Amino acid sequence: MAKAKDTGFYCKECGFETAKWAGQCPACHEWNTLVEVPASFLAGSNSRQAGISQTGLRKVGPGLKGKEFKAAGSCRMSEIRVEQEERFVTGIDEFDRVLGGGIIKDSLVLVGGDPGIGKSTLLTQVCKALSDKGVDVLYISGEESLSQIRLRADRLGEFGEHMKLLCETDLDVIEKVITDEKPQVCVIDSIQTMFRPDVASAPGSSGQVRESTNLLMQWAKVMGIAIFLVGHVTKEGVVAGPRMLEHMVDTVLYFEGDSHASYRILRGVKNRFGSTNEIGVFEMRSTGLEQVPNPSQFMLTGRPVNASGSVVSCSMEGTRPILAEIQALVARSGLNNPRRSATGFDFGRMNLLIAVLEKRLGFKMSECDAYINIAGGMKISETALDLAVIIALASGYMDFIVPADVMAVGEVGLSGEVRSVSQIESRVREAVKMGFSRCIVPESSLKVLGKQENVCLTGVSNVTDAIEILRKMQK
Ligand code: TYD
Ligand code: MG
Repeated sequence: MAKAKDTGFYCKECGFETAKWAGQCPACHEWNTLVEVPASFLAGSNSRQAGISQTGLRKVGPGLKGKEFKAAGSCRMSEIRVEQEERFVTGIDEFDRVLGGGIIKDSLVLVGGDPGIGKSTLLTQVCKALSDKGVDVLYISGEESLSQIRLRADRLGEFGEHMKLLCETDLDVIEKVITDEKPQVCVIDSIQTMFRPDVASAPGSSGQVRESTNLLMQWAKVMGIAIFLVGHVTKEGVVAGPRMLEHMVDTVLYFEGDSHASYRILRGVKNRFGSTNEIGVFEMRSTGLEQVPNPSQFMLTGRPVNASGSVVSCSMEGTRPILAEIQALVARSGLNNPRRSATGFDFGRMNLLIAVLEKRLGFKMSECDAYINIAGGMKISETALDLAVIIALASGYMDFIVPADVMAVGEVGLSGEVRSVSQIESRVREAVKMGFSRCIVPESSLKVLGKQENVCLTGVSNVTDAIEILRKMQK
């Protein structure tokens, strides 16, 4: 009988597993990304068909043997009993909301972000809030010494007896401590510093990070601990190897912000237990992160008065409308290929909107450098900002001023038509709340909006009309 093959391969980019080596990954089509590992390290989802692992579950540590978190065979959907999901509510509203109403008891949450953005500070504050409520918390750091952590903690207030610290990077040692102490919530800061002695590759390598995360996922499910993983974003802007960890964990949060500005945004990009795209806004102060309950106000502070190329729009971040100022600078270019740059807005989308201005309104944009910036450093990818971007560019090009009490929202199509956007009522309501008295909206949305108090609504069906109306407002 043929001997079962005891090694297999996985793709360090997408995690695909296979028995045979190939130059190109069959799943993500990246080249030279397949790495050879012992068969027992493979997750087994597709290795079973490749004939590698028969267990389906990865090897678990000594403290966990015999407890599997899957059923032995198939079962009927209707027969599965679901217990009321238990959540730890931290009381930090901006944080709880992003997680969908608190931390699920046995979940694995990845918190990614640039080095120095405040991930350790945020999680230390979360641990403090939980331990103050009597939840047993273990903060494991592989990056800082106990005294360094204590120095940070001193800025954040007094810590009670339920918060424990451990400086360790060996997951075998960590497993022993976790099995002995049985914390309810655990933080691993950071996943890139952790290593499993039974995996040959170096800490921080994609093999180690992947294997460590696999193991932690099992601890979370088998022992019923909520585990937070801190993950530093690599140069390409993704956590430890493109997309590698995101599919393995329950929830992915990114902590972002402009390193020159004090505010920080916690953004949910994946959540098995709640909606995604929800954001939490914080401000970094000398005493830690402070919640920002009214982000629109925060984003609009310091807005220039009577300047061309500036207009306010409203983006939906999850269930929350947030106003943001779109700035455009259009200047004559001496270059054959004029300069273009977009900060906080999609570069491709900006080029598309510039082409609409060139073709539909006859602007000579090919002779101009154009820059778009979303003030305050927010990153917004919503097409509902199209109309505001077009207006800002036109205002910069024609040098007219958009009145300060105007908010514009709408998607722009390739023929220059203004199309309706989702949740228009919430957007207009937010603008009214923030003192805007005129809103430029898609004509097709006027019916949905009906009659609104304290605001003058102007419906536009194409960008030419929108620009004409705004130029008349100025006179
Ligand atoms: P940190 O949480 O260590 O970042 P990360 O874990 O993402 O690498 O925080 C880094 C920055 O935050 C550091 O430059 C100091 C600043 N900071 C404050 O401004 N106020 C504070 O109260 C704390 C604790 C940190
Ligand atoms: Mg840190």
